[in-house]
Amino acid sequence: MSLFDIKDKMDELVGELNQHTYNYYVLAMPTIADFEFDKKLEELNRLELEYPDLADPNSPTQKVGGDITKSFITVNHRWPMLSLGNTYNEQDLRDFDDRIRKTIGDSFEYVCELKFDGLSISLTYEDNKLIRAVTRGDGSKGDDVTTNVKTLNKIPHRLKAGDAPPVFEIRGEIFMHRAAFNRLNREREELGEIQYANPRNFAAGTIKMQDSGEVAKRPLDCFLYSLNTDKNYFKTHWDSLQGLKEWGFKISNDTRLVNGIDDVLAFIDHWNNERFKLSYDIDGIVIKVNSYAQQQELGFTAKSPRWAISYKYKAQEVETLLERVTYQVGRTGAVTPVANLRPVQLAGTTVKRATLHNANEIERLDLHEGDSVFVEKGGEIIPKITNVNLDKRHDGAERIIYPIDCPECGSHLIRKDGEVAFYCPNDEGCPPQIIGKIQHFIGRKAMNIDGLGDETIETFYKKGLVEHISDLYLLKDKADELKTIERFGERSIENMMQGIEQSKQMPFEKVLFGLGIRYVGETVAKKLAFGVKNIDNLMGATFEELITIDEIGQRIAESITEYFSKSEHIDQINQLKVFGLQFQIQENEIALQSEKLTGKTFVISGVFENYSREELKELIESNGGKILSGISAKLNYLLAGENMGPSKHDKAKKLNVPFISEDDLFEMLK
Ligand code: IVH
Repeated sequence: MSLFDIKDKMDELVGELNQHTYNYYVLAMPTIADFEFDKKLEELNRLELEYPDLADPNSPTQKVGGDITKSFITVNHRWPMLSLGNTYNEQDLRDFDDRIRKTIGDSFEYVCELKFDGLSISLTYEDNKLIRAVTRGDGSKGDDVTTNVKTLNKIPHRLKAGDAPPVFEIRGEIFMHRAAFNRLNREREELGEIQYANPRNFAAGTIKMQDSGEVAKRPLDCFLYSLNTDKNYFKTHWDSLQGLKEWGFKISNDTRLVNGIDDVLAFIDHWNNERFKLSYDIDGIVIKVNSYAQQQELGFTAKSPRWAISYKYKAQEVETLLERVTYQVGRTGAVTPVANLRPVQLAGTTVKRATLHNANEIERLDLHEGDSVFVEKGGEIIPKITNVNLDKRHDGAERIIYPIDCPECGSHLIRKDGEVAFYCPNDEGCPPQIIGKIQHFIGRKAMNIDGLGDETIETFYKKGLVEHISDLYLLKDKADELKTIERFGERSIENMMQGIEQSKQMPFEKVLFGLGIRYVGETVAKKLAFGVKNIDNLMGATFEELITIDEIGQRIAESITEYFSKSEHIDQINQLKVFGLQFQIQENEIALQSEKLTGKTFVISGVFENYSREELKELIESNGGKILSGISAKLNYLLAGENMGPSKHDKAKKLNVPFISEDDLFEMLK
């Protein structure tokens, strides 16, 4: 094979693997087995090792903690992980109840549980220690993901000495809360990464990551729901759940012991509406016969137990009309198609728009003008189109074609090798990109400029007052023009000027993040700033030097060198330097960010909207604070997020420990 052929083969593999990753995580519709995927990934890896000069820096083998399935060790399940029969209506459930009555008579109880929408996991404990965590796999054998599972702080590594058996297996569901899913997906969007279709895929993708350090950063949770032991420790499933709780496992408080099928139906009815108030997704209810002796009597079919069944809620789906497809150009130039729909009610809200992700999705749906489409609301904020009702397609309807030119500035769109999104390359001249970049710069996580909002930036741009970030610092000379803007009084102008002036004190890492360099998110900006110390070092750094910095991979390094190769960007930085912005790390920042929390102790519990628990921990520790593992009277603060455990909550209340929010913590650090 010539080098050209090898390069072609490598490009083909990159394209294929990216498409499969997209099918799996975004569309939730894999078209290839994990094993086949791994084989292709290995082949690409081998070729890249052999021909490093031909390797694509964006190759799926290079993704930092990428979402690629690696080969984990396969472990046989001691007790097969069966699935559950599904029911969809009352009659199915009454039939299930009749079948049970025929075998065990009328005297029995049911346990009703939520059906958590995540991935099932089997945990083995020996002598009170977690020794193995295995995925369901094909039911008889799964992947050993112990190292990754050990990063979940909801799963105990060691049990308090108690009466747990010397060896047991416990099963449960690992999942991600919606708030965390939305936050992380927004971050991925900002970084131009593929977004996950729903929290389940995000959780499953996380558990199968190569890098446990990355897993630790993604907040996952776990409910446990069944126990397997060699001899029965408990008489009933309900008692075993109470036992598990005492041994330190997280059991749902929404599980109920009920007396007959009418109570089961009432439970199902209750959660049909209430499920949207939970902070995580459920896709149904699981109904189990309570007594272990009766379970044994009922036994199993080849695939599932006869003593349990699931009731699946209908997907919240409606049919509506596609009015038109519009295209949004983001700050990084990515062009995202959006379906504008005839407004329709879905899961309590009016839906007018649905995301179409990118060109591949339009192709997958084979969308035509005026199509009647099915819209579904899952974990994500924006609903998505699942399918087209072909019976209602009009004769002669035109196919929807993704544009070849930017709908905003007319530049020819480009798609980089191995990427799914098309980009407008005109970053200095395309209006939504210019506006988006300035909006990003003033945003809360970047320069946090008080008195300026997204709409104001748009107005300023349209009036020709700002075209670059640096123009913000010239606004003070344009007071007369500013006064002519509607609803922009003297007070607002004064506030804004103060905010802009104060932003000159924002630390280097915030300025760096604010520049909006592709793939340089908040965390990367911090690592870079502390790694290079000042902007001149960063501008002068070579690709090879950049990749030696912690967490900076090839893709980020390439984006940084490309950014600084443009003279417009260097001009901007020089102007910002003249205005007095911070372009170097302060010496005291390098040592310890501050001493503001020295002597203070914190426990972090729950799920947070803006930061992961890892990030909050880092923040507290780098400002001198200490993280404690449990709540005691000595604890100074409980940093409480959404859905914190009830026992922690009650204990902290009893001991009068102050509860603080993310915002309170930031106030303390100001
Ligand atoms: S019990 C014999 N309880 O649903 C099967 N499963 O469709 C025993 N699931 O593989 C499973 N919540 O991943 C059980 N409360 C719950 C559950 C639950 C979610 C999942 C689990 C299982 C699948 C079966």
